[in-house]
Amino acid sequence: MGYGRSKCTYTPCPVFGVQLRLHRQDFERRRGLDAYRSAKRALENISAQMARTDPSVAWAIQKLQDYEEIQRSGSPYKPEPYISTCCKCNQLIDAIKTRRSIRWYENRPVDDETVLRIIESVNWAPSSCNRQPAKVFVTNNPELSRRCLELCSGSSGFSDYVPLFLIFASDPRAYEMPREVMMPYIDVSLGVQNCILVAHSLGISITLLTWAQSSKQQDKQLRRLLLIPDSCQIIVNATGGYPAFGAKVPARKTIEQTIVLIK
Ligand SMILES: Cc1cc2nc3c(=O)[nH]c(=O)nc-3n(C[C@H](O)[C@H](O)[C@H](O)COP(=O)(O)O)c2cc1C
Repeated sequence: MGYGRSKCTYTPCPVFGVQLRLHRQDFERRRGLDAYRSAKRALENISAQMARTDPSVAWAIQKLQDYEEIQRSGSPYKPEPYISTCCKCNQLIDAIKTRRSIRWYENRPVDDETVLRIIESVNWAPSSCNRQPAKVFVTNNPELSRRCLELCSGSSGFSDYVPLFLIFASDPRAYEMPREVMMPYIDVSLGVQNCILVAHSLGISITLLTWAQSSKQQDKQLRRLLLIPDSCQIIVNATGGYPAFGAKVPARKTIEQTIVLIK
């Protein structure tokens, strides 16, 4: 499916890897058979081209093959070795805590390569059934960014120069509605935070902007500006750029106010 300059592929992701229970080490014949059958049926409606080009669908097809193999052989997956990170806990917490929503940017563009580097991390977040539903519509044209920002209700206090505008969207057709109505928000939001932290590590602040209060007219205008198809659901918008200065650290609730630890 083409949408002008941007391309948005419909990822139906009908296969529920978790429901197939492939990760379980205790083998049981025919466990997950209902999920297997419904996934097989759903895949019949997916074109060969999509199976080749959409990693989420390719992943799903692989899961079905794994399921068949496990059922044939009667032995579960061999456990994979655990891969640890070279990032130290303190460094990660530092990145999380020093990240700020900055609304005033240096007069400095953000190049395409940097944009791709930031957005590449969106699909590395966990997503339900590995659907990876995020679609990110971005402009690094400051004039266009400004026009997009002006459509947002929380746009006050920003610099005139806005290097980046981002729309984090989801393709809700990948979900079983209405049961999973919140799922696109969860899946995309986890990816959003990945992008924000990667941007921060590159010296760029990404500030989120609510779209919850948008009018039909604003929604139509924003979609027109960044070529967003009706099939995509806007989850949240954002600006980005190299900060001109910092921001006060908004107080955080304490761990005691947040956690309920049951022993
Ligand atoms: C879903 C969401 C919507 C937000 N919408 C806006 C907004 O419309 N305008 C704005 O200036 N900031 C917005 N923010 C930024 C928050 O105000 C900010 O994250 C919060 O005050 C904490 O500050 P910090 O990000 O610097 O830690 C939003 C944040 C989130 C998570």
